[in-house]
Amino acid sequence: MPTVIDALNNRSSKRAYLPKPVPKEIQEKILDAAAMTPSGANMQPWKVLAVSNTQLLKKVGDTVISKMDEGITNDQFIQYYPVKWVNPYKKRRIVTGSGLYKLMEVDRKDNDTRIEMWKDNFRWFGAQTVFFVFTDKANIDGAEGVLLDCGAYMQSIMLAAQEFGVESCPQGSTTEFGRVIAEVLEMPENLSLLYSVVLGYEDKEAKINGYQPSRVSLEETVTFID
Ligand SMILES: Cc1cc2nc3c(=O)[nH]c(=O)nc-3n(C[C@H](O)[C@H](O)[C@H](O)COP(=O)(O)O)c2cc1C
Repeated sequence: MPTVIDALNNRSSKRAYLPKPVPKEIQEKILDAAAMTPSGANMQPWKVLAVSNTQLLKKVGDTVISKMDEGITNDQFIQYYPVKWVNPYKKRRIVTGSGLYKLMEVDRKDNDTRIEMWKDNFRWFGAQTVFFVFTDKANIDGAEGVLLDCGAYMQSIMLAAQEFGVESCPQGSTTEFGRVIAEVLEMPENLSLLYSVVLGYEDKEAKINGYQPSRVSLEETVTFID
């Protein structure tokens, strides 16, 4: 029986899936477990749209891709990535990105292929189930705490999914087009899209799924005081 540590170590973002939705009973089990994520004042500030309708997913993805093709870089509720990248994070981002492109034999200067690879986010990497996670705009008006809760909720979804052999990829790419996506999904005005999580059955033949970026040592991120 896998332990929590096993689940943490074994999870990695998968970017190629078989065309097979996650059965609703499994989605419910994952979401039931994730609902146990702690949140400040037990607000449970997440609102999830669990979409396995391929037509709707295609409509959402195509709309975002056509915005990208028009030269629009974002249309978002929240800014996810730093506005100004500083080290060591900048360097880690470069190392992680170049590791992926190296594995996929994509040249550093081949911008077109890189953009196509990014667009794969909006083809949901071939998966047929995506959880779109929203929160009430009032929760993030002048406060950020709820983003911590919803981030923890994201990890709960991804760890719980493993129990059912379901792989995942968290998506900040959808955060960047949150307003566009909320509109296509016809969400109520009071909700902001925070992120999505792609869920499904990995294509084990796909080279890209072998990518598991390493982590820096504890010395770089932790200070112990005894
Ligand atoms: C909040 C968040 C947003 C992310 N957004 C994307 C994304 O849009 N597309 C993507 O391919 N990966 C995305 N990732 C995956 C990260 O690149 C990945 O977690 C990181 O490189 C570590 O790799 P691992 O998840 O395989 O351990 C995101 C991860 C997080 C936590």
